[in-house]
Amino acid sequence: MANKAMSQLLPDPLPPEPLQITEKWLRQAWDEQVQPNPNAMVLATVGAGGQPSARVVLAKDLMLPDGYVMFYTNYDSRKAAELAANPRATGVLYWDTVYRQVRVEGFVVKSPAAESDDYFATRPWQSRVGAWASQQSRPIGSRAQLIEQWRAAAKRFDTPPVGPDADEADDDPQGVEVPRPPNWGGYRLWVEAVELWIGGEYRIHDRARWTRTLTPLADGHRFHSTAWHVTRLQP
Ligand SMILES: Cc1cc2nc3c(=O)[nH]c(=O)nc-3n(C[C@H](O)[C@H](O)[C@H](O)COP(=O)(O)O)c2cc1C
Repeated sequence: MANKAMSQLLPDPLPPEPLQITEKWLRQAWDEQVQPNPNAMVLATVGAGGQPSARVVLAKDLMLPDGYVMFYTNYDSRKAAELAANPRATGVLYWDTVYRQVRVEGFVVKSPAAESDDYFATRPWQSRVGAWASQQSRPIGSRAQLIEQWRAAAKRFDTPPVGPDADEADDDPQGVEVPRPPNWGGYRLWVEAVELWIGGEYRIHDRARWTRTLTPLADGHRFHSTAWHVTRLQP
């Protein structure tokens, strides 16, 4: 299979720091719209008894130079419960059209509340109402019941009874202020290990792993980090 990325191997020698390349890959995937959600990241957490679980979240940003990936979710969801018990997670981004994979492993901490407020305020009105309407990961009897919960939330914010399937779903009916639910917000996946992978000809893929050690700081949101150590790996 001919592939755009096959000639673009990792630098040799490898750079001492991986996040600049990671950020470049993310930006390229975004700018070139290599797929509809180029920031879709499979996030793996570990549940009770050691059972891994994984789902897609949107990696909203890679923050440099600190080196953490931001995503947003419900703080009462299954992933949140698993992270509360074990704050380690792994994220995988894969862009099929350019044959590149990024694997990030590390510690997850909640974002500061003000940062979650700021991001929540940028979301479309319907999504903000949706965050109030859905108790993510909890059972519900029917879709009709879910729509009813959405309508009740919409009514609570004093808006016309439009539904999530309605055409006007992207409109902001009255510009009504919808505050961030306390159980919705951001997480920071602080990266302790990065693996970059590029598909190569004859399946001789290019692969390297960078690691560093993170030590938590007292504010609960940040870490002190050592320098990166890099190793080329067999594919
Ligand atoms: C493309 C895509 C993007 C998604 N983005 C998010 C997201 O950013 N945050 C989120 O909570 N769920 C997102 N989801 C839904 C999750 O995959 C998942 O169903 C949900 O978070 C519940 O997961 P949990 O029960 O394991 O906590 C997304 C799903 C897809 C397919």
